[in-house]
Amino acid sequence: MQIISCLRPIWRSFIMIFLLLGLAVFPANAQDSTAAAPAAGGGDVAAGQTLFNNNCASCHAVGDEVVVGPGLKGITQRAPSKDWLYKWIRNSSAVIASGDAYANQIFNKYNKLQMQSFPDLTNGDIDNILAYVESASTAAATPAQAQADAQGGQTASTEASGGLSTQYFTIILVSLLVVLFLVLLVLLMIVSLLTRFLKERKDLSEADREVLEQRTSIGKLLQSGVVKGAVGIIAVLLLGKIGLDSVMNIGVSQGYAPKQPIAYSHKLHAGEYKINCAYCHTSVYKGKNASIPAANICMNCHNVIKNGSPEIKKLYTAIEKNQPIEWVRVHNVPDYAYFNHAQHTNVGGLACQNCHGEIEKMEVVQQVSPLTMGWCIDCHRKTDVNTKGNAYYDKLLAVHASKEPMKVATIGGLECSKCHY
Ligand code: HEC
Ligand code: HEC
Ligand code: HEC
Ligand code: HEC
Ligand code: HEC
Ligand code: HEC
Repeated sequence: MQIISCLRPIWRSFIMIFLLLGLAVFPANAQDSTAAAPAAGGGDVAAGQTLFNNNCASCHAVGDEVVVGPGLKGITQRAPSKDWLYKWIRNSSAVIASGDAYANQIFNKYNKLQMQSFPDLTNGDIDNILAYVESASTAAATPAQAQADAQGGQTASTEASGGLSTQYFTIILVSLLVVLFLVLLVLLMIVSLLTRFLKERKDLSEADREVLEQRTSIGKLLQSGVVKGAVGIIAVLLLGKIGLDSVMNIGVSQGYAPKQPIAYSHKLHAGEYKINCAYCHTSVYKGKNASIPAANICMNCHNVIKNGSPEIKKLYTAIEKNQPIEWVRVHNVPDYAYFNHAQHTNVGGLACQNCHGEIEKMEVVQQVSPLTMGWCIDCHRKTDVNTKGNAYYDKLLAVHASKEPMKVATIGGLECSKCHY
């Protein structure tokens, strides 16, 4: 009759493994997203990450891809010296002007783009940035990072540096938890069946009877201090992780798809009914802004079509009260950068879908592209200038005639002043 006393330690240890695994899932995650990896070269990686994201990420990746400037992977080995790096980062033009060979070589290689100066960064700050770059570039060699960069979506390196490996790790741990949980349930059922069966029997020894009486019920177990503590810790870690994730995503609005005041559908109008984009976005080929249609344009059709529908009634109310419909803006480039639609749609001959995705399939408009500086620059590097039927380019073309196709970068598409005043 020792079966029961054998079973108890077994399922107790199961519960312990279960809780320990639960604890393991969250720290494993949290650690990766804060990049609390051991500091390489003595700098503070976390501080370096903040500095890098605030000052450098708009132009540099931690891997070896080019954003605006070169990828910084292996920079400490590549650069002439640590001292050179301090000087360069604080004032690169001074280093170039001094005639430094390496500085002039990279300056020419990157189309004579002027790197911003950072006179306020101390040597310590720069050490921290370099430490972060080193630790992140080793972690960055995952497929996730490469993919994110290939899409030109190089925003904050933090996003991708957690990468696929953690995702798989989490998935494996969670499935282990689920399996263990099921095993635990089955074991509990066996135990309770056995105890019920044994209680019926009268011929039990004193020792066995005792074990039977003091068997731990699930209720009691859940109330024990250890379990309460563990549940508490898991809850705190979980909340912490959610908070951390949302902080990391501030400023990246890719995927943003707000609910609009009227259930207007591009899928229906631009997709099924094939209404031309410029019928509503009237200035998209002529002006800087594409413009959002006023209710009058909708009324060209809706004074007869579906004019009983509650959604269409909202159009009528807006016109009666002479109040514009408060569409929620989806895409937004900051004021300090200049973007012009006509330049891209009319002069450049680009389709809307290049930047906005398949709008004609969207029930609700969603921001598909990151709209970061790296995204603009990346396209300017890759895209040929549309020279067809454009007299303005004839002279330029003559100069470029036999050379490779003329990219937007060639005509000045990487110059700071074209996008920033
Ligand atoms: C506005 C864009 C821009 C910003 C912001 C920027 N850089 Fe640069 N950086 C460049 C460009 C472009 C180059 C290539 C050299 C050139 O054209 O001047 C470069 C070159 C470098 C190099 C030399 C790379 C090599 O391959 O030798 C280092 C190091 C560097 N930057 C570090 C930084 C750090 C650290 C920060 C943030 C504190 C930063 N940069 C911010 C544009 C930028
Ligand atoms: C019948 C009128 C109509 C047509 C046709 C139309 N749109 Fe729109 N579009 C709207 C309205 C109204 C909004 C604002 C509400 C919304 O975001 O859904 C809008 C919003 C947008 C936005 C988001 C604007 C922002 O806030 O950032 C984009 C991008 C856009 N349209 C692109 C297109 C493209 C591309 C086409 C053609 C394939 C097209 N539209 C055809 C009426 C139209
Ligand atoms: C060129 C004609 C045309 C224009 C312009 C137009 N619509 Fe429509 N709209 C239609 C058609 C056709 C339907 C589908 C009616 C049906 O399902 O029978 C429709 C359906 C709708 C519906 C769904 C109504 C329902 O209850 O099913 C809404 C909402 C709507 N339109 C809003 C707008 C808004 C807002 C604008 C202006 C930005 C606009 N439409 C401009 C032709 C138009
Ligand atoms: C080269 C990329 C690119 C192309 C091509 C493009 N857009 Fe845009 N679009 C943008 C950007 C960037 C913004 C945000 C502009 C801003 O905030 O000033 C935007 C904003 C908009 C808006 C919001 C209102 C506004 O003007 O800011 C509408 C509507 C829109 N686009 C429609 C269109 C339509 C329709 C086409 C095709 C005829 C088109 N876009 C082609 C990049 C593009
Ligand atoms: C899908 C590719 C693409 C994207 C994304 C893109 N552009 Fe362009 N851009 C072009 C093309 C093509 C031209 C050349 C038009 C022409 O033929 O003059 C151009 C030209 C320009 C010019 C004029 C350059 C010159 O030398 O005359 C400016 C300024 C500009 N783009 C700003 C931006 C900004 C700001 C963004 C990001 C918000 C952006 N572009 C995103 C393709 C793109
Ligand atoms: C093709 C257009 C384009 C060119 C060329 C360009 N920028 Fe930008 N830049 C942008 C856009 C768009 C943003 C806003 C990006 C965002 O909101 O993430 C931006 C943002 C910035 C920022 C703010 C970065 C941040 O993360 O807050 C700085 C600083 C900057 N640019 C400097 C430069 C310098 C210096 C150059 C020349 C080497 C340059 N830019 C060339 C389009 C451009």
